[in-house]
Amino acid sequence: MKKGVSFLVTVALIALVSSLASASDPGPLQDTCVAIDEPNDAVFVNGKFCKDPKLTMAEDFFSPGLDKPGNTSNQVGSNVTTVNVDKIKGLNTLGISIVRIDYEPYGENPPHTHPRATEILTVLEGTLYVGFVTSNPENRLISKVLNKGDVFVFPIGLIHFQFNVGHTNAVAIAGLNSQNPGVITIAKAVFGSNPPINPDVLTRAFQLDKNVVDYLQSRFS
Ligand SMILES: *[C@@H]1O[C@H](CO)[C@@H](O)[C@H](O)[C@H]1NC(C)=O
Ligand SMILES: *[C@@H]1O[C@H](CO)[C@@H](O)[C@H](O)[C@H]1NC(C)=O
Repeated sequence: MKKGVSFLVTVALIALVSSLASASDPGPLQDTCVAIDEPNDAVFVNGKFCKDPKLTMAEDFFSPGLDKPGNTSNQVGSNVTTVNVDKIKGLNTLGISIVRIDYEPYGENPPHTHPRATEILTVLEGTLYVGFVTSNPENRLISKVLNKGDVFVFPIGLIHFQFNVGHTNAVAIAGLNSQNPGVITIAKAVFGSNPPINPDVLTRAFQLDKNVVDYLQSRFS
């Protein structure tokens, strides 16, 4: 085979393989999507139903107010304002959303994961100590102190956090590559699930006294 021809064959093969690879099912766009036979009880089609394109308008792609800080007077001293497909219906199937995060001095966005999205965050105001932890068995902490204008990435599914280490308010904006990234806040999910996880499970998992687990469950329930 001539060099040029074999190059073309290689390119064609790569194109074929990559088109096959992207011909798989789309990833889930919500936590659960149980198949049903009765359409009247249906709520999602792995995302949302689509509006007739002829009826779409600017409002479908618009959300105001991300200049307004969220109220950080809560136990963790932070507030996430989410602009996902529930706020902008036009985000359906586009695989992207945005959040604003406000932090009071020493407030934090506690350890959490997004089951469906990688997050790219930029600091608009203040100083944040941020980090994520890699999978087992290494569980390596990758962390950094960020200042205004800095950008940091939290890879999909990994536990991550931001902590305002400055003595002024901090503000960040983050983009996430899902219309519905989902959030699992570790402490709340584990100690505040509904109904509660049997305390024996948590006592052994966290190597704690039973009464410490009872205390934590009462704090998060
Ligand atoms: C976040 O801020 C909004 C707007 O001020 C408020 O309605 C909401 O309750 C706050 N959320 C939390 C968790 O404090
Ligand atoms: C913020 O939330 C706290 C606690 O819920 C509430 O007392 C306070 O009035 C709120 N502040 C504003 C500006 O809405």
